[in-house]
Amino acid sequence: MPVFDRLSVLLCHAVVPVLVVLLSVSGHPQAFPCRLMQSTALCKNCQLSAVPNHLPPQIEEIYLDKNLLINLQDGCLSRYPILRTCSCANNHLRTVEENVFSESPLIENLNFADNELHDGHKQVAQSFSPLSQLKTLDLSGNGLTEDMVSVLLQNLSSLESLYLSRNVMLRLDETTFRNLHQLKELNVERNLLFEIDGAFYHMKKLQRLNLAFNCLPCLVNFEMTQLLVLNASHNSIEWFITNQNLSETFQLETLDLSDNHLLFFPFLPTHNHIRTLILSNNWVSFYQDFANATSSNWTTKVEFYNLGQNVGNVTMELWNESLHGDISSVELLDLSENKVDNFPQGFIQQMPRLNWLRLRSNCLQSFSLTPEDLPVTLYELDVSKNRLTELKASQSTISKLNNLTYLNLSTNDIQKLSPTIFANLPSLSTVDLSHNPVDVCFSEESNYSSSTCVLWSNIVTLKKLYLEGCGIQNMPPSPFKGTPLTHLELSNNLDLHIKQESLAGLSNTLEHLGLGNTGLQDFDFSPYSHLRSLNISRNSMSEFPESLVALNLRLLDLRDNMLTTIPSKHATILAQRLQAVYLNGNAFNCCHLDWYRTFVENKGISVVDLSEITCLDFNLRHHKVMLFDAVHCGGISNEESFVWYILLFVTVSVSIVGISVIYLLTFRPKMLPRAIKKRWRPTPY
Ligand SMILES: *[C@@H]1O[C@H](CO)[C@@H](O)[C@H](O)[C@H]1NC(C)=O
Ligand SMILES: *[C@@H]1O[C@H](CO)[C@@H](O)[C@H](O)[C@H]1NC(C)=O
Ligand SMILES: *[C@@H]1O[C@H](CO)[C@@H](O)[C@H](O)[C@H]1NC(C)=O
Ligand SMILES: *[C@@H]1O[C@H](CO)[C@@H](O)[C@H](O)[C@H]1NC(C)=O
Ligand SMILES: *[C@@H]1O[C@H](CO)[C@@H](O)[C@H](O)[C@H]1NC(C)=O
Ligand SMILES: *[C@@H]1O[C@H](CO)[C@@H](O)[C@H](O)[C@H]1NC(C)=O
Ligand SMILES: *[C@@H]1O[C@H](CO)[C@@H](O)[C@H](O)[C@H]1NC(C)=O
Ligand SMILES: *[C@@H]1O[C@H](CO)[C@@H](O)[C@H](O)[C@H]1NC(C)=O
Ligand SMILES: *[C@@H]1O[C@H](CO)[C@@H](O)[C@H](O)[C@H]1NC(C)=O
Repeated sequence: MPVFDRLSVLLCHAVVPVLVVLLSVSGHPQAFPCRLMQSTALCKNCQLSAVPNHLPPQIEEIYLDKNLLINLQDGCLSRYPILRTCSCANNHLRTVEENVFSESPLIENLNFADNELHDGHKQVAQSFSPLSQLKTLDLSGNGLTEDMVSVLLQNLSSLESLYLSRNVMLRLDETTFRNLHQLKELNVERNLLFEIDGAFYHMKKLQRLNLAFNCLPCLVNFEMTQLLVLNASHNSIEWFITNQNLSETFQLETLDLSDNHLLFFPFLPTHNHIRTLILSNNWVSFYQDFANATSSNWTTKVEFYNLGQNVGNVTMELWNESLHGDISSVELLDLSENKVDNFPQGFIQQMPRLNWLRLRSNCLQSFSLTPEDLPVTLYELDVSKNRLTELKASQSTISKLNNLTYLNLSTNDIQKLSPTIFANLPSLSTVDLSHNPVDVCFSEESNYSSSTCVLWSNIVTLKKLYLEGCGIQNMPPSPFKGTPLTHLELSNNLDLHIKQESLAGLSNTLEHLGLGNTGLQDFDFSPYSHLRSLNISRNSMSEFPESLVALNLRLLDLRDNMLTTIPSKHATILAQRLQAVYLNGNAFNCCHLDWYRTFVENKGISVVDLSEITCLDFNLRHHKVMLFDAVHCGGISNEESFVWYILLFVTVSVSIVGISVIYLLTFRPKMLPRAIKKRWRPTPY
C-alpha cells in the first residue's frame, strides 16, 4: 500500500522525531480514524466496532478505548505479532474469543477496564493463556465477582500490576490470587469487600495495596512486611492491629486509614519506616487518663475470635502505650476530625522527624507550643477547630521551633496566650487566629493582663495573617509596623473601626486585604499599590470607593453593600484590570446599568455572581439585571419622561380641538357663515 511505503521511508530517514500520519484507506468513504505515532496506534473515541485491520504490522501499542467494541474475534490481532500493549477500556466488550491473543504472545500490558466481561469471563480467561509475559492487567469496572476474578487470573503468574477496582467482589481468600507470586501492585478499590482471609500471604513482592472504599470491619494480624503503601481509607475499620509477634522491620512508608471507624490509634509494627500516616475522619482518642482513673476492674483486653482459618485468636492489651508501635519515622501525621482530647506523655516527641501535624477538628483543650512537647522539625501545625482556651509556650525556648512556618489556630476559644509568642518563632510565615477572642495589642509597654491580645509588629517573617471574626474593635496606629504582610484578613470583625493609620507600613507589601462585614465606610485604598485582591463585602457602602481605580486589582468583592451604580469611567478602568468581581446584594438602579454592560462586554473580567445581581426600578421592585430590559426605563430619565407626559397632553388636546372643529363644520354649517359674515362684514365705502 503506497501510504505505508511512504511512511516507512519517512521512519527510516528519521525526518521527524514524532510522526503523525492520518491514514486514509481507499474504498472507505470517511477518513481512516487512527493516528500513528511511531509504533503506537491511537484509535480512541472513533466509533469503531471492530479492531482496525489496516494498521502497519509492526505496531507495538494499540489504544482502542472509548469505541463500540462488543466482541474481540479470533484473529482480530493476528496482523500485529509484536504487540506489547493493547488497551480496550470503555467499550461494550462481553467476550474475548479464545484465540485472540494466540499470535500476540508478547503482550505485557492489557487494559479491559469498564467493559462487561462478567458473563463471558471463562472465555476471556482462556484467551489469556498465551500471555506468558503479561505484566499489567486492568479489569476495573467489569461487574466481576471474586470467583470470576480467580478464574480470570488462574494462570497469569507473570502479573506485576493488577487493577480490579469498581467490581463486586465480597471476600478475598488464598484462592483468589493463587498464582500471582510476582504481583507488586494490587488495586481492589470500590468493591464490596467485607472479609480478607489469607489472600495476600503468598505475595512476597507486593508493595502497593489499595483497599479503599470497601466494607472492611477491621485489619488484624497485619504482617505484610514488604508492603510500602497500604491504602484502606473509606472502609468501616474499627481496629488496625499488627501481628505483634513479628520482630522484622516493616517496609511500610504510607498508611492511609482515613474515613474509617477507628477508636484507637492503630497498633503499628514495632519496627517500621512509616512516613505518612493518615488517620483523618475516625473516632481516635487516647485513653491513658481514663485507664488510670478507673484502674481497678476495667476491661483491659480485647480479644478477637474467628478471624478466619489463617489467623489465630488475637488478644490485645488495651491502654498500653507500647502498642502504638514505632512512629519515629513519621513525617506527616493527619489526625484531623477525630476525638483526641489529649496525647499520652511524650507521644508527639516520639516523632523526631515530624514536619506536618494536622489536628483539625478534635477535642484538645490546651496545647503546648514548646520544643519540649513538639519536635523542632515541625513545619506545619493545624490545631484549628478544637477547644483550646490556652496556648502554652515558653518565651525562652520557643525559638528552637525554627522550622515552624504555618500555624492554624482558627476556631478555638483562646483566651490565654503570650502577646509576643509569634514574634519568637523564627520561620513563621502564616498564622490563622480567626474566630478566637483575641485582640490586637495597643503598645508594647502597656499591661496586657486585662485582655487577650497579640503584638503583630516587627515579625519579619510573617506574610499571611488571618484575624477573621475575632471581635476586634479598635486597632492601634501602625499595629503591623515592620511586619511585611502580603495577606491580611480582618473580615467579620463587626465593629472594627479601621482607620487609615491602622494599615500603615503595609503599602509596599499588601496583596490581599479582607475587610468584609467590618462596618467600613470610607477608606483610601490608593496607597496599597500592590493590592490584587480586596474584599469589602457587607459594609453598607453607598458610593463606589473611587480610590480603587488607582489600583491594579484582580479580584474585588463588593457584595451586600448599598451601591446604586458604578460610575461609567470607573467601570471602564475596572473592566480592563479585574479578573473576577462579586456584585450581588446591592441597590443598583435599573436605569443606570452602563457599568453592567461594560463588564459583560469585556471578555477579560468575570462577574462571578452575574445571574444573581438585581436592580431596583422606579417602584422599588427588584429585577434580575440579566433579564431587565432597558426599554422599561424608556432608555431615559425622570425629567425626560415628564416631557413625554406634556407631549401626550398636547396631542390629546389638539385632537379634541380638531374633532370639535370638524363637528361644527359638519352639523352647524349655518353658524360658520354667520360668524364669518359677522367678522368679515364688508366695510362701507
Ligand atoms: C491454566 O493452566 C492449567 C494447567 O496448564 C490448564 O489446565 C487450565 O486450563 C488453564 N486455565 C486457563 C483459564 O487457561
Ligand atoms: C487512598 O485512596 C483514596 C481513594 O482512591 C485516595 O483519594 C487517597 O488519596 C489515597 N491515599 C493515598 C495516601 O494515596
Ligand atoms: C497514671 O497513674 C500513675 C501512677 O498513679 C501516674 O504516675 C501517671 O502519671 C498517671 N498517668 C496519667 C496519664 O495520668
Ligand atoms: C468494680 O468492682 C466493684 C467491686 O467488685 C464494683 O462495685 C464496681 O461496680 C465495679 N466497677 C465497674 C466499673 O465495673
Ligand atoms: C480461639 O478461641 C476460641 C474460643 O475461645 C477457641 O474455641 C479456639 O480454639 C481458639 N482458636 C485458636 C486458634 O486458638
Ligand atoms: C505493655 O505491653 C508490653 C509488651 O506487650 C509489656 O511489656 C508491658 O509490660 C505492657 N505495659 C503495661 C503497663 O501493661
Ligand atoms: C523543615 O520542614 C520541611 C517541610 O517541608 C522539611 O523539608 C525540612 O527538612 C524541615 N527542616 C528541618 C531542619 O527539619
Ligand atoms: C485554618 O483552618 C480552618 C479550619 O480548619 C480553615 O478553614 C482555614 O482555611 C485554615 N487557614 C489557612 C490559612 O489555611
Ligand atoms: C469576603 O468576605 C466574606 C466575609 O465577610 C466572605 O463570606 C466572602 O466569601 C469573601 N469573599 C470572597 C470572594 O472570598
